Amino acid sequence: MTSPTLRHSRITGTGSFLPPNRLTNDALAAQLAADGIETSDQWIVERTGIRARHFAAPDVTSSDLAVEAARHALAAADVDAANIDLIIVATSTPDMVFPSTACLVQRKLGVAGCAAFDVQAVCSGFVYALTVADSMIRTGAASKALVIGAEVFSRILDFKDRGTCVLFGDGAGAVVLEASATPGILASELHADGRHVEILCVPGNVSGGQVLGDPLLKMDGPAVFKLAVGMLYDVAKSVLEKAGRSDADIDWLIPHQANIRILLSTAKRLKLPLDKLIVTVDQHGNTSAASIPLALDESVRSGKIVRGDTVLLEGVGGGFTWGAVLLDL
Ligand code: ACO
Repeated sequence: MTSPTLRHSRITGTGSFLPPNRLTNDALAAQLAADGIETSDQWIVERTGIRARHFAAPDVTSSDLAVEAARHALAAADVDAANIDLIIVATSTPDMVFPSTACLVQRKLGVAGCAAFDVQAVCSGFVYALTVADSMIRTGAASKALVIGAEVFSRILDFKDRGTCVLFGDGAGAVVLEASATPGILASELHADGRHVEILCVPGNVSGGQVLGDPLLKMDGPAVFKLAVGMLYDVAKSVLEKAGRSDADIDWLIPHQANIRILLSTAKRLKLPLDKLIVTVDQHGNTSAASIPLALDESVRSGKIVRGDTVLLEGVGGGFTWGAVLLDL
């Protein structure tokens, strides 16, 4: 009797897109100063490692950024959009309450018929979306998936709160994930703990034709920091164990790009040499669900990460949510 052939999933192409308006810390500080809000390049760099971020123009939405990233990923994978049978967009800044941003991306790609939906797990969104796509491919529910993280966080920032408005940026990243006879994605793990809703949230909602509550981002920075560091370490160890691998097998670590101090302490706890840590937070700020696929695509295009490398992706964000995906590219 022959054993059934195992079906796996593998990333075959990556893409990303940043809106052209790049704002340095000095430029942002000057804008905030006009409203009487004081900050400086020195404070932002020292506390976060961020030097610049990109902000989308007022008429540009998450689906606009997503579709550009998707086109780059499709071209890299040499896959026609018509052959995609699953689109998942991870976003906390959707174009509309409904339909999903994934449906809008599908229309902008000029295709129809395949499954398309959004995943809402804030900054862990891409890791969640990739895990769902991998599961659907392994069960045979899909064969060629577009998995996208896209955000216009500038829309939900309170520019009177200097503790949060300097941290975030806009952008999108995407991958094409295809069925494969050999494993690309080796293991993944997702978690959430709703007891921490209040430390990072946008509490407003739409009701009766009005926005009820505060529609801008609220964050208890020190509380987020403390939780994030522990969770990123624990989930990294757990996913490595699941895959039967060790810290020494990691060629590249791509954590969610929130803050350089969180990234450095995660790498240090994993005893990972710092030259294996991918850092883009300095140039992008925190782009929430877009940060991991943006960092992956930039590293692939610069030739840093090459086919066959073992990469650990890790997300953490509002919810609280967190998770990791270990993969061979
Ligand atoms: N410019 C100048 N001063 C500032 C600024 C600013 N932009 N923001 C805050 N300050 C001041 C505060 O008012 C405070 O002043 P005070 O001591 O006179 O009251 C002082 O700086 C220290 O404030 P803290 O909030 O204690 O500063 P901290 O060292 O904790 O750094 C930060 C704040 C950067 C937000 C940090 O807590 C952090 O990075 N936390 C994690 C946040 C994060 O990564 N969130 C996203 C992860 S999850 C996700 O991505 C959704």
